[in-house]
Amino acid sequence: MRAEVPFVDFAAHVGAIRGEVDEAVARVLDSGWFILGPEVEALERELAAALGAREAVAVANGTEALQLALAVREVGPGDEVVTTSLSAAFTALAIQATGARPVFVDVDPGTLNLDPEAAAGAVTPRTRALVPVHLYGHPADMDPILDLARTHGLAVVEDACQAHGARYRGRPVGTLAGEAGLGALSFYPTKNLGALGDGGALLVNDAGVAARLRQLRNGGQTDRYRHGLPGINSRLDELQAAILRVGLRHLPGWTERRRALAAFYGEALRDAELDVPREQEYARSVHHLFVVRHPRRDALAAALRERGIGTLIHYPIPLHLQPAFAPLGGAPGDLPVVEKTAGEILSLPLYPEMTDAQAERVVDSVRDSVRTLSTGD
Ligand SMILES: Cc1ncc(COP(=O)(O)O)c(C=O)c1O
Repeated sequence: MRAEVPFVDFAAHVGAIRGEVDEAVARVLDSGWFILGPEVEALERELAAALGAREAVAVANGTEALQLALAVREVGPGDEVVTTSLSAAFTALAIQATGARPVFVDVDPGTLNLDPEAAAGAVTPRTRALVPVHLYGHPADMDPILDLARTHGLAVVEDACQAHGARYRGRPVGTLAGEAGLGALSFYPTKNLGALGDGGALLVNDAGVAARLRQLRNGGQTDRYRHGLPGINSRLDELQAAILRVGLRHLPGWTERRRALAAFYGEALRDAELDVPREQEYARSVHHLFVVRHPRRDALAAALRERGIGTLIHYPIPLHLQPAFAPLGGAPGDLPVVEKTAGEILSLPLYPEMTDAQAERVVDSVRDSVRTLSTGD
């Protein structure tokens, strides 16, 4: 029988930590405290320590982590925020939720992250912030982005939703702007650190900013029923916090396994006729996704499906061409690198619970499929 390799395998993921999750859930049920309690506080302390930030602030999801980070920097209506056109649409939806206008720029063809030169070209007198995305778990090239921010007095909010624990020149992502550092994490279940539901957090290096974010996520309350700021409801619940604390203990091991699988794929596909991602010299990637490129991407996906290998596309439509952002005036031809790339990228299965046999199966199937495509069989 053919060994199928699904794109994600939640049964294997939950199965591997089930005992610890059951214990964590029971602890919360017994406590009778369900929102913003001791589990959230402990998660915040443990996250900050594990991911190299002074503080962490837990919120309801990654989208609102981005929205609150921009709000705490007083980004709002009339402002422009420069970001990449290759990301989850939630990056730009978070910008719009503040009332600001997302300005999409092209990506670097080598890393598929925000192209710093393109970002520089998009800055206007209305620009207030830059939102680089550490896409697929690989850090964006941050030094030129931070220089650009300094030159124009812009806030920087790192979208680290796919990059828990990644490093840029040895420093943890999410905190790269130093004292002004703000990074958003998502705990969507497929993420490197995933909840069993929604969740998110901010990495913050300034205690005053962290306190303000804690106020903003809870309706802007200073005290019960006293709303000092126009906040939102972005509270994390105790069940998810307790489950995330289990995951956080496993995160270093999971990241090592992701890195080993990515190294294996990279080596085994080196001479195959397709582009494989390369870790840049400044980066320690956490390989949230392993994204290859092939000019006949849809045919490759179909060939892999026939061989029992699940794939996905992250992301098939550049943000400047998404109908949701049509009022911003994006048009085909505006951003040529991302437009070409969106037709070529394909994400292969890669998750910590994957067995060596499954990884070999993926590699053999990819090699076989690209050979078939190039000989036209
Ligand atoms: C790059 C990126 N930004 C933002 C988000 C939004 O996170 P969430 O789904 O937790 O709101 C995600 C995940 O969906 C993401 O991958």
